[in-house]
Amino acid sequence: MKKARRILLVTLLVLVVLFAVGVTATIGWRPFIGPKARPLTSRQFERTPQRLERGRYLFLGIAGCAFCHSPHDANQTGNPIVAGQEGTGRDMGAEGFPGRVVAPNLTPDPQTGLGSWSDDAIARAIREGVRMDGRALFPIMQYQNFRHMSDEDVASIVVFMRSLPAVHHGLPRTEIVFPVKYLIRSVPQPITAPVDGPDPNDVIQRGKYLVTIGSCNACHTPQLRGQKIAGLEYGGGFTLKENGMSATAANISPDATGISYYDETLFKQALRSGHVGARSLSPIMPYEVYSKLTDDDLKAMFAYVRTLKPVKHRVDNAIPATYCKLCRQMHGGGDQN
Ligand code: HEC
Ligand code: HEC
Repeated sequence: MKKARRILLVTLLVLVVLFAVGVTATIGWRPFIGPKARPLTSRQFERTPQRLERGRYLFLGIAGCAFCHSPHDANQTGNPIVAGQEGTGRDMGAEGFPGRVVAPNLTPDPQTGLGSWSDDAIARAIREGVRMDGRALFPIMQYQNFRHMSDEDVASIVVFMRSLPAVHHGLPRTEIVFPVKYLIRSVPQPITAPVDGPDPNDVIQRGKYLVTIGSCNACHTPQLRGQKIAGLEYGGGFTLKENGMSATAANISPDATGISYYDETLFKQALRSGHVGARSLSPIMPYEVYSKLTDDDLKAMFAYVRTLKPVKHRVDNAIPATYCKLCRQMHGGGDQN
């Protein structure tokens, strides 16, 4: 009897250890205990006119904050943001997502927006992916890219967000399905050291910074079940759906199947007007947002895009979708890869 009890105990212990080793080696403990988060501080970002201006440029432009966090008018060409509704949030729906994804109201409204959040709580959500209440944000919110955003730029964005008119706009909550809801808890990573911006005299570094905080990879790097496919960085093939529209993101690497034939003028035209010569791009490519970028920034972005690793991957929205063995999805020209 005693012996049987001991065997049972040992077996139980072995199972517990195996489970612990298994969890540590696979998904980790975060899905059970919640995301990694640093404690909030009481720091406040000084409201300066420079920060307000810089924050406006980033929020409405390259960082895509307004693009995701505002309602759009699909009936107008270019699918523009509804004027006066910048930052009031939108339901991004459930198509292509593991659940319902809602980009919340970021205006200072105390009930439906961020009126009760501290500056640091907002900064932490943007770069480290944790809400004020400790919940991990679904990583379509681009905090994995925004963690490279400089301390000065994130301060500027918060200062600008605080200046938005408070708009009362209630939205449903994001509801991610099981088990993804738990798995995303391992994505947030705290920032514990200062983050500097790029050297202003280094054009390629500046371009890399803008392309990173611009999250071009969110659409232009193909992904499977939410994971970017290694080796196909900026190689296109990921199909996006929105408001009944659908388009596959292009290969923007400097390969012959990508945009090796682009020059700076064509790049600026494509990003600003959504036209590549006579061809017009789907408004799923947010050119409306990029139309506000300075010449200098677009030049730097092109200089950086030129240095990307060429990815051989044909993606063509003008021909019917076929299966592609490289990105394991259906897209135009897929069978030619
Ligand atoms: C690709 C779309 C996208 C972009 C770009 C984006 N966000 Fe988000 N953001 C979201 C979604 C979706 C959520 C909600 C995720 C969730 O609830 O799990 C979110 C959540 C947040 C939150 C948490 C708010 C809350 O009430 O929970 C803040 C703050 C935020 N975003 C600010 C920003 C800022 C500032 C930028 C630009 C620097 C930005 N976002 C860019 C989609 C986006
Ligand atoms: C929300 C998703 C999304 C984001 C973010 C995005 N793109 Fe795109 N992009 C697309 C889609 C979809 C297309 C294809 C449109 C079409 O063929 O009609 C495209 C097309 C392009 C093209 C045209 C390529 C060609 O066929 O000639 C260029 C250049 C481009 N994107 C560059 C960028 C850069 C640079 C960024 C970041 C600043 C970026 N895109 C961010 C979705 C996106």
